Amino acid sequence: FNKLRGRGVWRYKELIAGKYKNIVSINEGNTPLIRSSNINDNLYFKFEGLNPTGSFKDRGMTVAVSSAVSLNYKTVIAASTGNTAASAAAYAARAGIKSFIVLPKGKVALGKLAQSILYGSVILEVDGSFDVAMDAVMRLYKDLKVVYPLNSFNPWRLEGQKTIAFEIAEELGVPDNVIIPVGNAGNIYAIWKGFNELVKTGVINTIPRMIGIQAEGASPIATAIIKGKDSPDFVENPDTVATAIRIGKPVNWQKAMKAIRESNGTAIVVSDSEILDAQKTLARKEGIGAEPASAAALAGYIKAINEKVVDKDEKTVLILTGHSLKDPDSMTKAEAKRILVNPLHMEKIILGEINGSNS
Ligand code: F0G
Repeated sequence: FNKLRGRGVWRYKELIAGKYKNIVSINEGNTPLIRSSNINDNLYFKFEGLNPTGSFKDRGMTVAVSSAVSLNYKTVIAASTGNTAASAAAYAARAGIKSFIVLPKGKVALGKLAQSILYGSVILEVDGSFDVAMDAVMRLYKDLKVVYPLNSFNPWRLEGQKTIAFEIAEELGVPDNVIIPVGNAGNIYAIWKGFNELVKTGVINTIPRMIGIQAEGASPIATAIIKGKDSPDFVENPDTVATAIRIGKPVNWQKAMKAIRESNGTAIVVSDSEILDAQKTLARKEGIGAEPASAAALAGYIKAINEKVVDKDEKTVLILTGHSLKDPDSMTKAEAKRILVNPLHMEKIILGEINGSNS
């Protein structure tokens, strides 16, 4: 059944631009849209953490690496805060080609770094932020024609990522709002593009408001939107606990601002403590583990409700971009009871916990 149509991302082959001689796939996409059970009935989580390498990047990488292979490239490169790297490494491995990834040293979550090591990338570390790594890749690929760039200025990445919109529309119809964490700013544009293409082909007749979330210490785009400016002031030393979106000079800022403005959307800035609280809320109220950048979407939603930017009766989808396992350090920041016990005498402690007399 349905064999010819493929699965996940490639199910929408006819809607993905470009021609591919070879398709490099690890069955990405087709992620669950999970309805909130304890936060709000009208809230849905698109859990991109369940992609093959644990983030939405796999949707873009399957298309971009297929393009690289179809163009006979043997080497790929990507700058990354971690997830693009893990994904590029996996898809390059699958394709049997070499990958170089450029990382901001000491600023990449452990799970992501470990993935890149496991998949066998050559890891190049720079002293400085993601922006330094990104500049280096932009400069390099123009001179060194033998390497194919896999960052989101590569349009094929966004072709793959727009399938997030297709899956949401297919399963839920058109929500009122889609809330997305914004870093290098490709994904918000890709999802907007996906909804727009469905309007053009007559599948749907309206699109959701695109709401972009950035962290306080790395919010050039959100700040520009909030202040009504034409272009962002770049941030020299971006900083946030959400290392995935620790970006001061987003390459796709123009595209992101267009998506937000043309969809009648908005942007919201959240603090690190709001992000970590949201990560905990998501885990403890919904049983969903997301990395901090993804939890920023929930932090943004909570703020949007409080500030009456979004109504709680509106159908809203949060894009949970990456899995919590990516960033073990962030998970251990949540407070927990850890009690050293004598294995033969745990009853008293357990009964105390149940009756609330231990605290
Ligand atoms: N959420 C996660 C988990 C991410 O890894 C990223 C980007 C974003 C959100 C933001 O998406 O850049 O399209 O606006 N991570 C990139 C990386 C920068 O290198 O992995 P964006």
